[in-house]
Amino acid sequence: MGEGGKHPRRGKVWSARLGAVTSPAIEGYTSSLDIDRRLYAEDVAGSIAHARMLRDAGLINREQHQAIEQGLMRILGEFESNAFVFDGADEDIHMAVERRLHEIAGAVAGRLHTGRSRNDQVATDLRLYALSACLALVRAATDLQDALVWRAQEHHRTVMPAYTHGQRAQPVSLAHHLLAYVEMLQRDIGRLLDARRRSDVLPLGSGAVAGSTLSLDRRAVATELGFSEISANSIDAVSDRDFAVEVTAACALLMVHCSRLSEELVWWASSEFGFAELPDTHATGSSLMPQKKNPDAAELARGRTARVVGDVVTLMTLLKGLPLAYNRDLQEDKRALFDAVDTAAATLAVLTELVQAVRFNTDAMRAAAADPALLATDIAEYLVERGVPFREAHEIVGSQVRRVAEERRTLRDLSVAEWREACSAAGDDIVELFDVDSALHRRNLLGGPGPRSVSHQIGRAIDVIEATRRAVDDLAARPILER
Ligand code: ARG
Repeated sequence: MGEGGKHPRRGKVWSARLGAVTSPAIEGYTSSLDIDRRLYAEDVAGSIAHARMLRDAGLINREQHQAIEQGLMRILGEFESNAFVFDGADEDIHMAVERRLHEIAGAVAGRLHTGRSRNDQVATDLRLYALSACLALVRAATDLQDALVWRAQEHHRTVMPAYTHGQRAQPVSLAHHLLAYVEMLQRDIGRLLDARRRSDVLPLGSGAVAGSTLSLDRRAVATELGFSEISANSIDAVSDRDFAVEVTAACALLMVHCSRLSEELVWWASSEFGFAELPDTHATGSSLMPQKKNPDAAELARGRTARVVGDVVTLMTLLKGLPLAYNRDLQEDKRALFDAVDTAAATLAVLTELVQAVRFNTDAMRAAAADPALLATDIAEYLVERGVPFREAHEIVGSQVRRVAEERRTLRDLSVAEWREACSAAGDDIVELFDVDSALHRRNLLGGPGPRSVSHQIGRAIDVIEATRRAVDDLAARPILER
């Protein structure tokens, strides 16, 4: 080992090829340790599976394998007890583990990297991470669904206006409104499980790009690590980060949904709406205005959505000009993926609490829903049932809405005679349409806000949440290397 530059040589695994010691600036710039150190468990698991395969393939003997696996287990213990000491020369988590294995096990450590490259190693680690991250996110999403369903059960018959264009539109129940988010989250869960399915492919055995001349048993490694499939093309396997894009994109859309819910909590908590109040435990104050009680957590969920959307852009931009196969640019994938997963997980947990804790002002909701104009469509549909073509009914009711606005009255103030004057099809019961509770009961069509329909939705949501949780338990039970 000759000295090449003015820096003292530190033992890098690739140092034989280079005649000089790496400049500290380059070392700092190329290091990914700050970001990828959290992959330690995946890295050690991958190495243990790889070493077992090398043993079974006769590429290392039993004693060598034992020394390697014991060393790796010790390293895992060091990480888990926070005792692992990084070295300034550790470029990434893979080199840190290998360097430490040399210290613990000596020269035999040099056999671990047989038939392996950091290129297929990092892809394996990241896919293992994606597999468990997706499950954790799905679990967290079912917790938020659960909270929404609980509140929906409680507010089964709480009437409130539904809005279109920011204008009061028609009466619905608070339950129906909350259950809309359960649907959104269920689609997010579907996307996460789908992204997970495509992450579930073992790259190890692809080497740097062209596989290996050694007869490695890739299926054995896949089984050991709990992967369902092995990659079909070594070039694709080391350069593919589609799975990271998909997980991140699933997180971004999930965050968009969380952001919409947050937006509503923010507005509902305003004096203008007055639909909701956060308990003091879940609100924040102002440093200047003594009267303020702010929904900062919801605002931050909305704000952090911007970052996760940015993470998708980061990953897509990272990949778009990248020639095959592995390029060091790919090291930048982790920051975006981890940020998206961490942010989505934290946001789901916080929103679950907010949904559990928020106090709904049902009187304010009912007062807003009592606006008779919200039942204009009901009157038009009433006339339709009496044979009036819908367009005509729409016109009749529309002109009455204009008329009462001019006369500073409401639709409810019109007498049966006035209605009959406007439309001969109007019956005596037309004035009974203005009861907002019966308006809700008229909407029991499947998928509608009527109490019967909502009961059906709640039952379905409970079943779906149950089924998701069972599916997640089954997936988690797969044999990811017992430690
Ligand atoms: N730290 C690298 C990454 O995260 C690991 C792979 C590096 N491979 C290489 N040949 N330099 O992508």
